[in-house]
Amino acid sequence: MAYTNFYNGNQMPTIGLGVFRVENDDTAKEAVKHAIVSGYRSIDAAYIYGNESKVGEGIAEGIKDANIKREDLFITSKLWIDDYGQENVSDAYHKSLNLLGLDYLDLYLMHWPGTNETLLLETWASLESLYNQGLVKNIGVSNFNIKHLEMLLNHAQIKPVINQVEFHPNLIQTELRTYLKEQNIKMESWSPLMNGEILSNPVIKNIAQEINKSPAQVIIRWNIDHDVITIPKSITPSRIEENLNVYDFKLTHDQIEQIDALNQDKRIGPDPAEFNG
Ligand SMILES: NC(=O)c1ccc[n+]([C@@H]2O[C@H](COP(=O)([O-])OP(=O)(O)OC[C@H]3O[C@@H](n4cnc5c(N)ncnc54)[C@H](OP(=O)(O)O)[C@@H]3O)[C@@H](O)[C@H]2O)c1
Repeated sequence: MAYTNFYNGNQMPTIGLGVFRVENDDTAKEAVKHAIVSGYRSIDAAYIYGNESKVGEGIAEGIKDANIKREDLFITSKLWIDDYGQENVSDAYHKSLNLLGLDYLDLYLMHWPGTNETLLLETWASLESLYNQGLVKNIGVSNFNIKHLEMLLNHAQIKPVINQVEFHPNLIQTELRTYLKEQNIKMESWSPLMNGEILSNPVIKNIAQEINKSPAQVIIRWNIDHDVITIPKSITPSRIEENLNVYDFKLTHDQIEQIDALNQDKRIGPDPAEFNG
């Protein structure tokens, strides 16, 4: 398993399992367990996905079956917008911990910036407080654009370690990536496979054929080559394994450029400048 280093000296697995749109039943449990047994060490959860209890069961069973310790895993969850505000954050954090059956998270993210700057800053200060009390190992943000980040960095005591954003070949986020690099904040991609849509793209399929890998592996490798942490979602055992199996090849400079050229600044999710839950 390869790891990416944060500015604060901590690190996180470069590839993890996403669990958005996974039913809160044995599907979630089995996918998470299979991922851990197959070598995954990072799981990307969120309160709003409504499946933290079954994800938690998968974590517990995965730890047992893979014969590892809790500390070997890196578990992320996200604070939903309804729980923003100083008086709500600690309760929301403990709500997620209880559902997941854990006593700490490795990473807690503000899920979206929202449209209220005062609330954003107050909420970030509450995440800082969780961090300062040693209750969470790392804190970060999700769906922040450059404007949100500039505003946050003007006020924050603690810089986020990560910004988790939509990133795939149709949305390559060049400006944001450059800005994050300058600030030493890692980028993490959500919907790296564009929720499956990009896998049938002829350029991606052609590169995959050239190097005898799958389209998903090509895109996951392209994330790594751009120093982007990624969390492809799958509930299919063979795909879960396939998506982690990207360290025995590299893309050429030309192949990376071909994928970059697919950019259309096209989002499949909401625009972070407007979204408010
Ligand atoms: N912070 C945010 O606001 C935010 C927003 C969206 C997502 N996320 C996170 O990012 C994660 C990933 O994004 P996503 O779930 O939207 O989509 P994704 O990872 O881009 O794509 C998932 C889709 O691709 C399919 N797939 C996965 N691996 C494949 C493979 N090797 N070959 C063929 N098809 C494959 C999956 O099918 P099967 O499952 O049927 O195998 C599923 O339909 C989420 O689960 C969540 O953790 C965060």
